Amino acid sequence: MTSRIDKLLAAMTCEEKIGQLTMSAAQYAVTGPVLAGDVSEDVRSGRVGSLLNIWGAERAHAIQRIAVEESRLKIPLMIGLDVLHGHKTIFPIPLAETAAFDPELWRRSARESAIEMGGDGVSMTFAPMLDIARDPRWGRIAEGPGEDPWVASRYAEAKVAGFQDGGSSQGLAGAGAVAATAKHLCAYGAVRAGLEYASVDVSERLLHEVYLPPFAAAVAAGCAAIMPAFNDLAGVPMTMHIPLLRGWLRREHRFDGVIVSDYNAIVELLRHGVAADLAEAAAAALKAGVDIDMMGSAYRFGLPDALDRGLVTMSEIDECARRVLALKERLGLFEDPYSRGAGAREPSSLRARRELAKDIARRSIVVLTNDGLLPLQPGLRRIALVGPLANAQAEMNGPWAAAGDPGDCVTFLQGLRAACPNAAIESAPGITIENDDSSGIAQALDICRSSDLVILCLGESASMSGEAASRAALGLPGLQMEFARLVFALDVPVVALISSGRPLIIPEIVERAGAVVATWFLGVEAGPAIADVLSGRFNPTGRLPVTWPRSAGQIPLYFASRPTGRPYHQDDHYTSKYIDLPEGPQFYFGHGLSYGHFAIENLTASAEEFWTGDSLTVEVAVRNEGSRAGEQTLFVFVRDLVASVARPILELKGFARIALGPGESGILRFPLPAAAFAFPGPDFKPVLEPGDFRVSVGPSADPQFHLTVLLRARPV
Ligand code: IFM
Repeated sequence: MTSRIDKLLAAMTCEEKIGQLTMSAAQYAVTGPVLAGDVSEDVRSGRVGSLLNIWGAERAHAIQRIAVEESRLKIPLMIGLDVLHGHKTIFPIPLAETAAFDPELWRRSARESAIEMGGDGVSMTFAPMLDIARDPRWGRIAEGPGEDPWVASRYAEAKVAGFQDGGSSQGLAGAGAVAATAKHLCAYGAVRAGLEYASVDVSERLLHEVYLPPFAAAVAAGCAAIMPAFNDLAGVPMTMHIPLLRGWLRREHRFDGVIVSDYNAIVELLRHGVAADLAEAAAAALKAGVDIDMMGSAYRFGLPDALDRGLVTMSEIDECARRVLALKERLGLFEDPYSRGAGAREPSSLRARRELAKDIARRSIVVLTNDGLLPLQPGLRRIALVGPLANAQAEMNGPWAAAGDPGDCVTFLQGLRAACPNAAIESAPGITIENDDSSGIAQALDICRSSDLVILCLGESASMSGEAASRAALGLPGLQMEFARLVFALDVPVVALISSGRPLIIPEIVERAGAVVATWFLGVEAGPAIADVLSGRFNPTGRLPVTWPRSAGQIPLYFASRPTGRPYHQDDHYTSKYIDLPEGPQFYFGHGLSYGHFAIENLTASAEEFWTGDSLTVEVAVRNEGSRAGEQTLFVFVRDLVASVARPILELKGFARIALGPGESGILRFPLPAAAFAFPGPDFKPVLEPGDFRVSVGPSADPQFHLTVLLRARPV
């Protein structure tokens, strides 16, 4: 029987096929040089097959109606939008949410976002962002799950499941499901010196060990689409990278979904200097299997020419058009092009989403230091909440929150006032985030002077993170450090709240504040979440998903570094160190304090020896030695002690959390399949080599708190 897609392809003109490969914007085009205009005529004539950056039932249905009622072949439109951390209900930014180390929460926020997107007529999202980021100068570190490929792989699975599971038997065709786009394949986070859109040159080993695994996990989870990165990889732009797109992705990982270019990226092949004109650019991307040209004119104006010049064939165009139509079919768009756009559906509700947003926000907050100021004493009467982020509604959501209304956000000031009705909380910004206007400082200092405690709210503005937001220096922008020094000089206890999309270099704040809390960008429920953590109503659980440097000179800094022949030793000059910096990061990956202390002891393994196919478990006892109920997250790392290729000092292979009442003990178990001890061999296929492995378990990547056990891989 001839399928719908075969029939359509047989009936389509070349222009209509290319139309299916073209994605345009109907409104609100912000991230590139291409301006959006009225696309109705293009949709009517079949010259555009998908749209981006449009939402709202009325608008989405109006344009969809043109496609399915007025175009010749009545092919529905796919409508895509960047929803990185919530559509209308804005959750914490991805880097923050990762700090919760809770895949089920990661899935749920994606699921709720999909419900809201579906309700607004959106059928595709350009998320999850899976770029491993080890350079906080790069503004997009905020959009992804941090530095570790194991974490990013779990994050990928959770997000794909959340976006694509419509919650009914319809799966991706359900109105509450959207096609996920794993982006940006690959190694975008390794741009030279953290500079946005710059070139990338990483070893093949790093690609296979670090940058590709999250994408493999997304594909294995059934991700519908992939977006190649803007960057080139050793001279070959990802938009035309045949070995990785056709070879690794489609052939090796059997990805048969849609590859959608980044914004205008095919046209930009000309600027990369690898195509002389639009026809060459279009041919290069099409040959690599890029199905959709997002916001570019390359396919539309270059492909006909490329066809005439024999640079591409009609069957190559058909191949891409078939994949786009297949995705539209999977999304149920042919059956009911209007099912999305009927409002967010039950069983979800706005109230439930706000509750979820608050829970995730609380779990994203990382208490970095605390000399006892936190939780706040219940008897505190006068609190000063100062700094440019104390009551900054417009900054709470962070980057990529196009449909989120900043007016929905509860600020730190609003949250704390509601949570502490008996305290007099006075507030003033003192300064702005970036300007050098110092006229408000005196008023803010007056408030601090007459208070028992100062909560100093510093950091970045939302626009300083995300795309095109690289920073060369990572200190507090503007006059904030000067302001902080004036506050410290008052000798009133200070809790510093640091809002940012990345680790900031703030050694002086760490040194001088009584407590420092990383609050990232927490979304709509920022205020209630911070109030819960500061007041102790919620015992903090957030852990850093990235290593926090003490100096920008240490970047890139990450825990999974390879050993050196001259490891640092304080008594030996000729060892690996900076002569002008103390050893180690400011805070290790995984660092994060709770109120109280958890002891860990008795690390045991289910066997001392193993080989391919075996599955081990290691377990550890955890005891809550504090006076409050709380949760402890532990990480399990592996080190291959002697291998044919030097292995990282620590490789993360799992994390788990346990909730314990005061004085209670419990056991945390980590499954370790033999595959966890393998590494990419000479052909980059996993190999397990015989020999000894050290397994460590601890609350962070800081080795001084690890329990270890030695295991041996021995062929049977
Ligand atoms: O999806 C994004 C991508 O991450 C960066 N450039 C713009 C795209 C569409 O908004």
